[in-house]
Amino acid sequence: MAIFEWDNKYSVNIAIIDSHHKKLFDIVNNIYDLMEHGADDDSIIKIISELLDYTNYHFSEEEKMMEKINYPDISSHKREHVDFIALLTEYFDSAKNGKAIFVAVKLSDAGVTWLKNHILTTDTKYQKYIAANNLTV
Ligand code: FEO
Repeated sequence: MAIFEWDNKYSVNIAIIDSHHKKLFDIVNNIYDLMEHGADDDSIIKIISELLDYTNYHFSEEEKMMEKINYPDISSHKREHVDFIALLTEYFDSAKNGKAIFVAVKLSDAGVTWLKNHILTTDTKYQKYIAANNLTV
């Protein structure tokens, strides 16, 4: 079962960024599936590692795009990224220390909520800036 279904309201009208966001939610859905099916700790740790790596990659690419367009709110946006990476790193460390199922539950709830809110509020702000200034990325 998917806990996140892509909807056009999450689109920032940049195909590559939308594809990154879809991939992030695919990974979170996979974490939820593993948890639902009683997967072993190693499988959960592996997929949390994948989420951490892909989130780092996405944030890095998104920040490059914001630099390219001289986005004025980049500093506060980057701070949100840093905070989420810190949270995921904390989860990853907890998972490796024997709390894999607990972390999977947290990610299926707090992780999804954070991603949805970040896309719908913070990411959407650069979309509006791009549209208001007729920029192409
Ligand atoms: Fe798409 Fe700011 O993360």
